[in-house]
Amino acid sequence: MNSQNAWIITGPTSGIGRRTALELAAYGTVVLVGRDPAKLAVVEQQIEARGGQAVPVVADFSDVGSVRRAAGEIVALGLQIAGVLNNAGIFPLESRTTRQGWDLTYATNHLGPFAFTEALVPHLPDGANVVFVCSAVEDPERRPAVMAGFRGARFVSVEASVRGEWKPGGSTRPGLDAYATSKQGNLATVLAFARETPRLRFNAVEPGFSPGSGLSRDAGPLLVFLSKYVLSPLAPMIKYWSTPKRAARVIAEVLTADSDASGVYYDERGKPMLGSAQVRDPGFSERVVAETRAFLATVPAAP
Ligand SMILES: NC(=O)c1ccc[n+]([C@@H]2O[C@H](COP(=O)([O-])OP(=O)(O)OC[C@H]3O[C@@H](n4cnc5c(N)ncnc54)[C@H](OP(=O)(O)O)[C@@H]3O)[C@@H](O)[C@H]2O)c1
Repeated sequence: MNSQNAWIITGPTSGIGRRTALELAAYGTVVLVGRDPAKLAVVEQQIEARGGQAVPVVADFSDVGSVRRAAGEIVALGLQIAGVLNNAGIFPLESRTTRQGWDLTYATNHLGPFAFTEALVPHLPDGANVVFVCSAVEDPERRPAVMAGFRGARFVSVEASVRGEWKPGGSTRPGLDAYATSKQGNLATVLAFARETPRLRFNAVEPGFSPGSGLSRDAGPLLVFLSKYVLSPLAPMIKYWSTPKRAARVIAEVLTADSDASGVYYDERGKPMLGSAQVRDPGFSERVVAETRAFLATVPAAP
């Protein structure tokens, strides 16, 4: 692997992303994109202590202007970008909004990574691999997700999602509908971009349910403690479950693979899997992309 290569990772300060950033350090310079400079500095030091190289870039993925600025800063670094990992994400159980009044989960998980990727694409060399960390909870046929209260993605339109409006008949907790719909947006983006831009590669990974990550921090201290110290050690024995460390290995392998694969959705073991029937319909993923572009076109460029 060329040590001149640079790998961009979003959300490298916790859970799956932190572990993946440490793995990626073996493959070249790691561009750490996160919202908290102090947390970024810690990961940067950890990578440098292992003899690796890292560059921190600050971005808040709930804010399209911040994300576009960060993409511009990364391009200006002039690195040889081999891959981009869209990993940052949130899973609040209840509805929250950004300062613009947009659904916080949809903005952070779908709009921000979409705008970030669109800003980087023209600057990526042929063959670069763009990977999104997705989630099978977007699929209403995914039984463990249904048992956990999900009802699959509840897409009405991108504008409705931005307003936090979901297709009726969803979960009893709106946060679950927001999360599932935002993660379907990630997968739709991968599938449509892979068809649209064959000079690059776009792939998706479902990392497995990792109770040891920080994603469930909203669930309250007792559940967070149980998840980390009771459920997480059981993960290797349970189908569809994983740990941040195992997920990081699979993601790093997919991202750095010397392969032509594009438009592939990998499961927690790194094997190809299928998304929901809805997202597999090319007309649907193209609609999500077109509506997202139309919405983002209304967001003023950063000053
Ligand atoms: N854990 C699971 O079971 C699971 C299953 C399927 C998919 N996933 C996906 O895996 C990815 C990583 O999740 P995780 O489980 O590792 O969660 P995590 O431990 O909570 O890590 C999330 C990362 O995203 C960052 N982030 C959150 N909001 C951000 C914002 N507005 N701007 C910039 N960065 C932001 C966090 O930064 P801070 O450190 O500053 O908070 C953190 O680095 C997510 O996309 C998630 O949807 C997770």
